[in-house]
Amino acid sequence: MPYNGNSIVRGKADFMKGQIIKDVIINKAASEKVARFFPWVYDNEILRCPQDIRRGELIKVCSPSGSFLGVGYINLKSTIAVRILSFVERPIDGAFLTEKISKAWERRQGLMRHTNACRVVHSEADDLSGLVVDYYNGYLSIQINTAGMENLRSGIISALERVIQPRGIYERSDARSRAKEGLDTTEGVLSGEIPDEIVVEEKGVRFCIRMRESQKTGFYLDQRRNREIVSSCVGEGFRVLDVFSNTGGFGIHAALRGAAAVTLVDVSSPALDLAAVNARLNGLKNVATAKADAFDYLDGAFKKGKRFDLIVLDPPSFTKTKSSRGGALKGYRRLMLAGLRLLKPEGYLAFFSCSHHISLEDLKRISLDAAEETDSRLEVVEHLFQDRDHPYMISIPQSFYLKGVLFRKSLP
Ligand SMILES: C[S@@+](CC[C@H](N)C(=O)[O-])C[C@H]1O[C@@H](n2cnc3c(N)ncnc32)[C@H](O)[C@@H]1O
Repeated sequence: MPYNGNSIVRGKADFMKGQIIKDVIINKAASEKVARFFPWVYDNEILRCPQDIRRGELIKVCSPSGSFLGVGYINLKSTIAVRILSFVERPIDGAFLTEKISKAWERRQGLMRHTNACRVVHSEADDLSGLVVDYYNGYLSIQINTAGMENLRSGIISALERVIQPRGIYERSDARSRAKEGLDTTEGVLSGEIPDEIVVEEKGVRFCIRMRESQKTGFYLDQRRNREIVSSCVGEGFRVLDVFSNTGGFGIHAALRGAAAVTLVDVSSPALDLAAVNARLNGLKNVATAKADAFDYLDGAFKKGKRFDLIVLDPPSFTKTKSSRGGALKGYRRLMLAGLRLLKPEGYLAFFSCSHHISLEDLKRISLDAAEETDSRLEVVEHLFQDRDHPYMISIPQSFYLKGVLFRKSLP
């Protein structure tokens, strides 16, 4: 007989729009992970699921013995078939969304003493798997990346309006994530008005955000803390090279700390155009941009005999999967080699990876190899991580994605 979930339906009529929540039974190994607050269940870990389940439907997750593990939503089209929203039994309704968004907003208020831009909701790390919300000086840029979150769309927007009272909400959902969920791309103004340009401040440094044409939701907020740490190394007369600069986050901070000259390298013209706007916004005249492939630029600069006192290497993720890790490691190694060859003695180099599949240890191992090859002696000045508005939950290894090392090239 097909399983219809009825035998163990303990759903409550007050769950979203009075729907009955069906039970989905997962295997023992997955149950153990969920019991330790891991919020995902993969498609091959489901033992029993009612046949008439709809894409994105709210469900109750149970162990093989039928004990409650969590409430979440399901999408059998996705490899991550179940995403848990609550590890306690409770309705997933407007009150739930308002509570989670209020808590997330409250937690960010400490950071907001020094900036008016931050990530408000970081998906599962804020118990809202599939939702990303960034705040830019009164405006919100949001991503609704899963079918389950899509079903909660109106509740999410009402909760955001109630808690944050933004002047406008713009949707910039991630096309890749949505495609994996069988959803179309969506983008546009959801409420209020969104100006073409919004100016935000990070410890007094000004950046212009163009939500409609930027990468991600507008700005690489996750690097905020690292921009501050890295730029604190700038000394008098420093020549700075910011590779994969995007809109100039690291370079502009460095220029304001007294660098003599800053070069920003990126392959994206819109990003560099905005970087030039950012330089002007901060009254800087010593920031140059170069539209180029990073590897070509680094090789060319070496041949021309250019050398730098501070170099930032912040590439896009070279791998999104474990299987392509090998190729990615080679790419990071090549990058570090090219960077080290351009670094002056006693200079600083910040080397990042934003791939979950590359560890801090990987970065250091690669750096040690590159140091040997370039006859460099490296000191680790700081370990660098995503800023705390992008929380890292220890029970969710995937939530730790941005890592870096700030090195200093010591004299032999
Ligand atoms: C992780 S983001 C850098 C964020 C930036 N450091 C910041 O703090 O705003 C990676 C950047 O690399 C750029 N990029 C991607 N491939 C590139 C390539 N082959 N050469 C140069 N830039 C590239 C992208 O346009 C993007 O701006």
